[in-house]
Amino acid sequence: MPSSIPPVLAAATRIAREFDYPASEVRRGVKEFINQMHEGLSKEGATLNQIPSYITAVPDGSEKGLYLAVDLGGTNSRVCSIELHGDSTFALTQNKVAIPRELMVCTSSKLFIFIAGQIEAFLEQHHNEHFEAHVLKRRLAGTREEYKDEEVFDLGFTFSFPVNQVGINRGTLIRWTKGFSIPDAVGKDVCELLQTAIDDLDLPVRVSALVNDTVGTLMARSYTAPGKTETLLGAIFGTGTNGAYVEKLSNITKIADLTDTRYAIPTGKMVINTEWGSFDNHLNVLPTTTFDRELDVETVNPGIQMFEKRVSGMFLGEILRRSILSLFCDPTAKLFQSAGGSIAPDSALYKLWGIDTSFLSLVEADVTPDLRVIADSLRKDFNIDGASAIDCQSVKVLVHAIGKRAARLSAVPVGAILLESGKLETEDVVDIGVDGSLVEYYPNFQGYIREALRDIPEIGEAGEKKVQIGIAKDGSGVGAALSALVARKEESS
Ligand code: BGC
Repeated sequence: MPSSIPPVLAAATRIAREFDYPASEVRRGVKEFINQMHEGLSKEGATLNQIPSYITAVPDGSEKGLYLAVDLGGTNSRVCSIELHGDSTFALTQNKVAIPRELMVCTSSKLFIFIAGQIEAFLEQHHNEHFEAHVLKRRLAGTREEYKDEEVFDLGFTFSFPVNQVGINRGTLIRWTKGFSIPDAVGKDVCELLQTAIDDLDLPVRVSALVNDTVGTLMARSYTAPGKTETLLGAIFGTGTNGAYVEKLSNITKIADLTDTRYAIPTGKMVINTEWGSFDNHLNVLPTTTFDRELDVETVNPGIQMFEKRVSGMFLGEILRRSILSLFCDPTAKLFQSAGGSIAPDSALYKLWGIDTSFLSLVEADVTPDLRVIADSLRKDFNIDGASAIDCQSVKVLVHAIGKRAARLSAVPVGAILLESGKLETEDVVDIGVDGSLVEYYPNFQGYIREALRDIPEIGEAGEKKVQIGIAKDGSGVGAALSALVARKEESS
């Protein structure tokens, strides 16, 4: 490196190189992902869970009706009602609240009472005509028998954690992710937990479908996608990361009896929730820096969700915080010192999880000549005064490296699923629905994914061009409604 480069920038570039994820590694990752996909389809307990969703067809846009949905998955909890118009459009009404941190580490009853309370408030506010009469009747009735057959809202429950699904509205929690830790819920049926809390409030609501947010995203994208192309994959790149795709039923060899009437469906397909956040927990192929190792130790689930911990929004801020501190401690770099600046002792930079991923998006997006936006945020949000333009540029070098590695890593499961589906050989367009703060707000996240897809020789430029990626906004709400509708249809057929 020529000596004219300021030492702080040279040091930042050295750290940034640790996050390189070259084409050869992308290819190695894809091969391993395909192996782990097969393993997960053939046996229980594999690293990649490959969970059958019991959803055997994706919508075509003609579905109609009014449904409720609850979305519990990470940062927020949402209750919505969705009117499907039957022409690929819908109207959605929602209430959204941030999940209080104390409810992420508590007892299951506390969490589900909280959600049922949200449903009650939502119905009262937006569907009062149904709500008052029903609730009053229920509260005055002597026994449940008196109202058990009356009209109720069908609710699709988007629960974005790994669940061992055993029916369209039944599934037991395998493990918590994304900072949640409520041990008494593990192994329990999460639909039952929600239904009990709903019944305790006498609400006219039946939990009729359970879906992962990726399954919801796939369903929603398929409902709204342009050109009536059947969507192959629904993926989330947000607080957590995961994907659900359409698999041939005959490939899901761990389902022992494919002639069981529950699977003997004409489509010959089933949506699989991969739970790719736990891809390569054994670290056969995942890139690992000191920062990744140190972060893992601080989580509630060390050694688990190792792919997610390198890719998703919950973790990128912490990887960045650790790399900024490492740069700060490098005596040759003199980060934040050139303009007489300093880090205040109470700065969030010294706090575990102190950097939110939105900071990475802000940094990557700052193209002002003197990187003023970054300097302002460092001052306001981190109590760092007098960061020079070179300091800001050094922070940007780190952010870019971490964000780009996350996006290139994201291409691994996407590429593997594209190749395994065989669709690039038979279709002109292969549709993918995505959602989540990273893919929505991190500048060029999708562009970096595409670059890495082109690095996979079996996909190349020609294959990458066929890939149509679209944001499935409100995917988990609409998808849950669509799943409740599928459940209703199955019940009445
Ligand atoms: C969960 C998945 C979920 C993903 C995205 C992961 O932590 O295990 O079930 O789909 O986050 O929300």
